[in-house]
Amino acid sequence: MSIFDTELKRKGTYSVKWDMMKDVFGTDDLLPMWVADMDFLPPDAVIKAMKKRMEEPPFGYTFVPPETARVISAWLEKRHGWKTNAAWYLYSPGVVPSIATAVRALTKKGDQVLTMTPAYPPFFSMVEQNDRKLVLTQLIERNTRYEIDWDDLAQKLKEVKMFLLCSPHNPSGRIWTEEELKKIADMCKQENVYLVSDEIHSDLVYRHAKHVPAALAAEDDAHIITFVAPSKTFNLAGMQASAVIASDEEVRKKIQEDQGKQGFFTLSTFGITAMESAYSEGEEWLEQLIDYLESNLEIVRKGIQEIDGLYLMEPDSTYLLWIDAREKGLSEDDMKEVLYQKAKLGVDTGEKYGKGGEGFIRMNIASPRAMVEEGMERLKKAFE
Ligand SMILES: Cc1ncc(COP(=O)(O)O)c(C=O)c1O
Repeated sequence: MSIFDTELKRKGTYSVKWDMMKDVFGTDDLLPMWVADMDFLPPDAVIKAMKKRMEEPPFGYTFVPPETARVISAWLEKRHGWKTNAAWYLYSPGVVPSIATAVRALTKKGDQVLTMTPAYPPFFSMVEQNDRKLVLTQLIERNTRYEIDWDDLAQKLKEVKMFLLCSPHNPSGRIWTEEELKKIADMCKQENVYLVSDEIHSDLVYRHAKHVPAALAAEDDAHIITFVAPSKTFNLAGMQASAVIASDEEVRKKIQEDQGKQGFFTLSTFGITAMESAYSEGEEWLEQLIDYLESNLEIVRKGIQEIDGLYLMEPDSTYLLWIDAREKGLSEDDMKEVLYQKAKLGVDTGEKYGKGGEGFIRMNIASPRAMVEEGMERLKKAFE
């Protein structure tokens, strides 16, 4: 039995995934396979470090020590071959707040910001809610894989000030190749466009694939801002701790200025402890997790093959699976009806991910195997 087989009691813990279903789906009797966190305990080492910190009150203001940057930097070098300098690091309670900060710090009101659809919805809202204009380029499907529309990208980069890249890509799990990333980075540089690379999913990589940080692929990284976090990798989203990495001092200054305007000063005490212990002691746990997710993926892959008209977009990364149900010809409302009312399955439907997302389903498989099997049974039932 794997450590990940243990079923945890998450109801009643203020879990967004388990306790907010009524608000989101109108009913709370669904099997929750939506919000991007995992139904697994974080590494033992993290729990231990946090318990130790818990025994060292009081919990007054805590600064992020230089050791934190060193630990993250060692992780990035070991896992992804990317050498970063401790001076390049800033911190943020989350990657979504960092997207908002980058938008505000590095563009002006009314400026245009580009992203690719389908996309994780805050890529839209953080641009629009900060009074910038959203420009979209739609990914092209080729052999059940997303490809970049290079001509459209080249055209649109001429008009925008910033490009928000999701690398690896949520919702499809696509990992962009080193060549693609280099090309994107070069194109952005040529057009004087900041490249913001959200790499929050970059540690959850399936065995056949390899993630390359955009700043590593690029010839020149001064215009690149990268976000990393232990939240997806180690299931620590509630700790609200993430990092912003920018090699250019001017860029960092602008980001810090915006953080200053918000009164943001430091991370939470437990966020710091969690982040440091995860990156310094969590590697073995992560290796086990990836094997477990591979097996969950295989269950879903086989299950979907048995459902007429449903196709899995094979992921390189992340426990979020992107399932093509367009052949079923259901409207978004009908799809919700069969998923939520008939099958009692709490998954996301594709429309909110923007153009190209219609008719897709996003399913989170980071749960004990028995729950994933139950989820597959429900998915079959939905489309019987
Ligand atoms: C691509 C991407 N960025 C950011 C986030 C959320 O980041 P945070 O919780 O640090 O704001 C998610 C969560 O699902 C995500 O998928």
